[in-house]
Amino acid sequence: MIEILGDFKRTHYCGDLNSSFNGTEVTLMGWVNKRRDLGGLIFIDLRDIKGIVQCVFHPPATSQENPNDIKNEIDIYEKAKDVRNEYVLAIRGKVAPRDTKNLNKNMPTGEIEVIVNAIKILNVSEPMPIQLNENVMAEEDLRLQYRYLDLRREKLQKNLIIRHKMVYKIREFLYQKDFSEIETPILMKSTPEGARDYLVPSRVHPGKFFALPQSPQIYKQLLMIGGMDRYFQIARCFRDEDLRADRQPEFTQLDIEMSYVNQEDILNIMEELFRYVWKETINVEIPIPFPRFTYQEAMNKYGSDKPDIRFGLELHNITHLFDKTEFEVFKKAIENKFSIRCIVVPNCANFTRKQIDGLTDLAKHLGAKGLAYTKILNNTLDSGIAKFLSEDEKNQIIKFLNVSEGDLILYAADSDKLSFKVLAGIRNQIAKDLNLINNNDFAFCWITDFPLFDYNAEENRWEPAHHMFTLPKDEHLCFLDEPTKYGEIQGQLYDMVCNGMELSSGSIRCHSLDIQKKIFNVLGFEEKDLHDRFGFFLNALKYGTPPHGGIAPGIDRMVMLLTQAESIRDVIAFPKTLKAVDLMSQAPAEVSERQMQELGLKFR
Ligand code: AMO
Ligand code: AMP
Repeated sequence: MIEILGDFKRTHYCGDLNSSFNGTEVTLMGWVNKRRDLGGLIFIDLRDIKGIVQCVFHPPATSQENPNDIKNEIDIYEKAKDVRNEYVLAIRGKVAPRDTKNLNKNMPTGEIEVIVNAIKILNVSEPMPIQLNENVMAEEDLRLQYRYLDLRREKLQKNLIIRHKMVYKIREFLYQKDFSEIETPILMKSTPEGARDYLVPSRVHPGKFFALPQSPQIYKQLLMIGGMDRYFQIARCFRDEDLRADRQPEFTQLDIEMSYVNQEDILNIMEELFRYVWKETINVEIPIPFPRFTYQEAMNKYGSDKPDIRFGLELHNITHLFDKTEFEVFKKAIENKFSIRCIVVPNCANFTRKQIDGLTDLAKHLGAKGLAYTKILNNTLDSGIAKFLSEDEKNQIIKFLNVSEGDLILYAADSDKLSFKVLAGIRNQIAKDLNLINNNDFAFCWITDFPLFDYNAEENRWEPAHHMFTLPKDEHLCFLDEPTKYGEIQGQLYDMVCNGMELSSGSIRCHSLDIQKKIFNVLGFEEKDLHDRFGFFLNALKYGTPPHGGIAPGIDRMVMLLTQAESIRDVIAFPKTLKAVDLMSQAPAEVSERQMQELGLKFR
């Protein structure tokens, strides 16, 4: 039943056909998207990468003079009867206009059809385990198990094509700017980026392991030491960490490093790159320069270092209005040196009890004890905690926040860390509930002046806020010698954020051995450990390292934005689940006893 391709050669793609091809003989190849047998006429919608076209089979005309013609027509018609969904066909025919009553405005090829005069069934298909129709999509686990079929969906194909186009445009831009694309090792020594490493045991050296790169960070710095001046790579990174909607255990970075640059140079070239890529891949103009916020500004205003600035609902610090408050919750907070922060939700005093309870539950889920609120009704603070506040406090709140009749105010009274987390979560939720977000907007911004170190109170030690190769700001270099000032040191460190997602992170690096050693010292590395892990890198810093810096946008996250995908799995051909499993191949999997023996490994 299955036929060979033979002398059939594709002349056109299904989705490319339109009325300008009327009368043209075409040869098409593709899958049967749908077959309709009307008793007489048979219609087959044929699908390829470019789209779908309707192919028409007429019942054999018994009036033909030549018996061969009759046989041929019967043959074609019988085959059309046999085909089922997802059979692979080659079809020859003539493009013809559809009757006016059969025009289909919902289909790009809806003005024409192909009158078939030859057909080959190139392959058959069992009934599909998943439907390709977007309206009756199977569960994601089943789709991931049959990913090669799921990939036949138009949406996934479009996402992958946009991804391809984006990477192509990135390369085009960077080549023009004198960057060289250079590959770095996948089997390497562990480079810390803060996540757990994926390890690869060495057969040749039992007991020793390679690590897969969490990023090419050390190598790109070594390339600068090696004189390569401007480097980039579409680099695969591997991190064994907890996954989320925008995280995968292996993902791709556009990894960039440049010599003799400062922070400003890097931000400028990245803005240009993003403008170019957005324009060239989806024809959207993004305005540059991007707004900038210091880390502290972003936290104060949005409660987050990856703020969604497509909407307002900014945070306000109103601690100073409650010096003499009698409201127990605020009084205690102030005694604990906490702050009182709030969000004004304009015109939402009509929120129902249920809506406010929903927000309070979210606040509690994020770690708060509650979510205080008041409304502005009859020109004064009303409802919620209003009864606990003095007239003077009420007036001051109204004046300071410049609120109007019908507004709603939500308050958090906690440590800054917790208040920021809670109010940032509340802010995003309200924006969603009130439909304040325009999904076609791209609101880019830069966050700068991050602290260099975070204190890990559980383990009683300092950790790098970004990574350990970041240079402190010039004016904070001296604090590296003062343990009480570690928390005040800011790094030459910048994140690019868009629509509430961290897109890129980068920094100016330590090119001085002396400063790099001091940083390792703050992080508490023992001399021997340091030597074992980073000896080669510290050595390299001894031989004339140029000042350098870089950045690494997440390619997958960029595609998520360009395609408005909600899940990172929708922009990766063969993704893993949230549990870091490939459901299609069932990886990770056990290996044979023999492989274990060869590697000198044994399960405990
Ligand atoms: P960082 O660790 O911040 O920096 O990563 C840079 C960017 O990579 C993307 N990203 C991820 N995307 C998908 N899944 C993940 N698990 C994941 N983790 C990170 C994000 C992030 O902004 N070497 C430094 C860069 C530098 O300093 O030049 C680095 O890797 O978009
Ligand atoms: P209570 O006196 O505990 O009933 O709290 C009074 C109001 O303050 C309630 O609306 C609580 O939800 C709210 N609340 C309690 N703790 C906090 C807090 N840390 N921050 C903001 N609101 C709070």
